[in-house]
Order: sequence, then structure tokens, then C-alpha cells
Amino acid sequence: MEKHLIHITVNGHEYELYINPKTLLIEAIRDYIGLTGSKRGCETVSCGACTVIIEGMAVKGCSVLAMQADGLNVTTVEGLEQNGKLSAIQKAFLDEGAFQCGFCTSGMLMSAKAFLDENPNPTTHEIRDGIEGNICRCTGYNSIVRAMSSVAQGKYREE
Ligand code: FES
Ligand code: FES
Repeated sequence: MEKHLIHITVNGHEYELYINPKTLLIEAIRDYIGLTGSKRGCETVSCGACTVIIEGMAVKGCSVLAMQADGLNVTTVEGLEQNGKLSAIQKAFLDEGAFQCGFCTSGMLMSAKAFLDENPNPTTHEIRDGIEGNICRCTGYNSIVRAMSSVAQGKYREE
């Protein structure tokens, strides 16, 4: 199949990729660019482990083709920390123990980040709705919701 050239900016770096048009965004990020923080779980748009942020919106990386991200800005979990410092949501997840195996965590963090950027003062109910597309099989959701609430309450600063 003929390959196509696309340009994607991931975590502030521009990448030029020759890809099969059927390549999923999550494949491009993991297999072409080599950023493996975003996980491939179900690949049926159900689990949320592959979630990244495209132009401010949380998007499941298995739900879009890489070509659909041509020319767009993508943020993955590797792009959350700045200058070696964890972001507010990462620190809150650590403090609240909001993960066990960690397989869902990168996707959960990206959904949480996009949600809180859009909804700075959410209720607990809204937080639960905000991450409903992300499945965690380990922790239950209370610690994740507590971490997101802590960030919303201003307990963590971006450094
Ligand atoms: S791998 Fe994309 S939603 Fe599960
Ligand atoms: S921490 Fe294991 S699936 Fe969420």
C-alpha cells in the first residue's frame, strides 16, 4: 500500500512520518515515534489506555488514523512533565496512590488533564463523568477522583 507523508507535532517536537494510510495514531506514536507511555489495550475504543490530547481534546489514539492528526498538535503522557518536573495531575496521582499496575494511568492522566483544563471547578459527579471513557481494573476510581479534586482545589501548582 502506498505510504503517505504526514507531519505531526508531538509534545512540541515536529515529526515527519511516512505511514500506511491505515496506521492508527496510537501505532504512529508508539511504533514510529517511539513514545511508549500511551498504551494499546483493547484497540476497540473501549478502555481509554491509549488516550492522548489533540489540540486540547482528549482523544483515544486507537479511534483515529495517524493521517487525521496530520498538521495537529498532540500531547502524550511524556509531554506532561516540564523541565523534569511532574505536572500537577501527575503529582496528585502519586500522592493519592491513584494507580496500581499503571496500565491505564497514562490514558487516565491525559483524560484528567484535558477535563480539568476545560472544567477547572468540577463537582465530584462531573469528574466521574469526565473519566467515564477510561477503565481502570485495579484501583477503583475513588483515588483517581480524589487526585483530580485536589488539583481542581488548587492543592498542586504547575512548576
Ligand atoms: S486501546 Fe484505545 S480505547 Fe483501548
Ligand atoms: S492501575 Fe491497573 S488498570 Fe488502572
